[in-house]
Amino acid sequence: MSNLDIPLTRPSFSGHEYNALEDVLKAGWDSQGPKVVEFEEAIVKKLGSRYAVATSSCTAGLYMTLGALGIRKGDKVAVSAFTWPSTAFAISLLGGIPIFVDVNEDTYNMNPIVLEEILGDHDISAIMPVHLFGNPCEMKRIKELAQEGGKIPIVEDAACAIGSMQQGSYIGENGTAIFSFHGRKVLTCGEGGMITTNKERLANCLRLERDMGVLPGGTRYQKKLFLKPANNFKLSDIQGAIGTAQVSRLEEILSARALVAGEYHSRLANMAGVTLPSIRPGDLHSWQAYVVTLEDGIDRDAVIFELAKKGIETTFGTYSVPDTDAYGLEVSDCPIASILENTTLALPIYPTMLKRDIQRVVNGLGEAIGV
Ligand SMILES: Cc1ncc(COP(=O)(O)O)c(C=O)c1O
Repeated sequence: MSNLDIPLTRPSFSGHEYNALEDVLKAGWDSQGPKVVEFEEAIVKKLGSRYAVATSSCTAGLYMTLGALGIRKGDKVAVSAFTWPSTAFAISLLGGIPIFVDVNEDTYNMNPIVLEEILGDHDISAIMPVHLFGNPCEMKRIKELAQEGGKIPIVEDAACAIGSMQQGSYIGENGTAIFSFHGRKVLTCGEGGMITTNKERLANCLRLERDMGVLPGGTRYQKKLFLKPANNFKLSDIQGAIGTAQVSRLEEILSARALVAGEYHSRLANMAGVTLPSIRPGDLHSWQAYVVTLEDGIDRDAVIFELAKKGIETTFGTYSVPDTDAYGLEVSDCPIASILENTTLALPIYPTMLKRDIQRVVNGLGEAIGV
């Protein structure tokens, strides 16, 4: 897999990020401090949530948020089955029980009809939809079901969805959502996460949870008041500075990604055996990943291998988490997620991708599947 001259992803850094980095390296302080506060403020301003709490990763943010909402041993949490395992691991690490909700074949997102059945069969303490690859979930229906079920809290896994919109609102504006800034995400600062919420008590609790149970404020070397045992899930000022610079370029990065996605749409529209990603009306996709589904009978892993031989890096979509060894449930438990794990293919997408490289991917894919 060497010589992959068209990578799956490539972060987009400009003079803004380099300048921000230089500033923080000269500042004499690089752990969590003013740059993280600026990053949180930039997110609040951009997305329109009342609060934003930075964390070391989205995984840490999911875990802290569920914990702060009171998820404990034995609590059942409904979670999308087709996702990066962090979503379910956050539940299990608190002693909770993930109840996997199968997904829609076309959007790859939580199927509200299956969720409704699960809410009828189980006493559910929280719901975790995932805006997979940046494609917004059916939040209106999920919120209705949560309300009917007795105001069940919703924790949105928005790892891939910074900049995604639904009915004109950013994901993270109207609910508790957790974003990732890992290197393959739309905005990146190496590693990092951000929780957005409109709930003041939750935001205060999360600030305590990410910093060893210590309330914010006070000088660095003052004796601290440890109010409860908690983890160190802080972000550094180095990451915060890069994160703020990235937020200032969100629109530029989103539109560059959307251009690549648009090129794929038109160039792949008539390719037999390939189903393109589906977006619901009124939704705006962040295009964290461009993931197609290959027809039954096409060996997806062989396609990945063939493309790699041409210098093109691709990968599978994501995991059917109930099928992982961590859970080992019956494969039939979430049949759509199980199928998608073996049929989805993520194509290269990044802001500086050239049209000729997009065409190489399209040609390579056609040759690999034999059309
Ligand atoms: C859907 C989803 N949830 C959660 C995560 C975890 O994010 P992080 O790597 O920031 O912990 C990822 C990262 O790939 C993801 O894709």
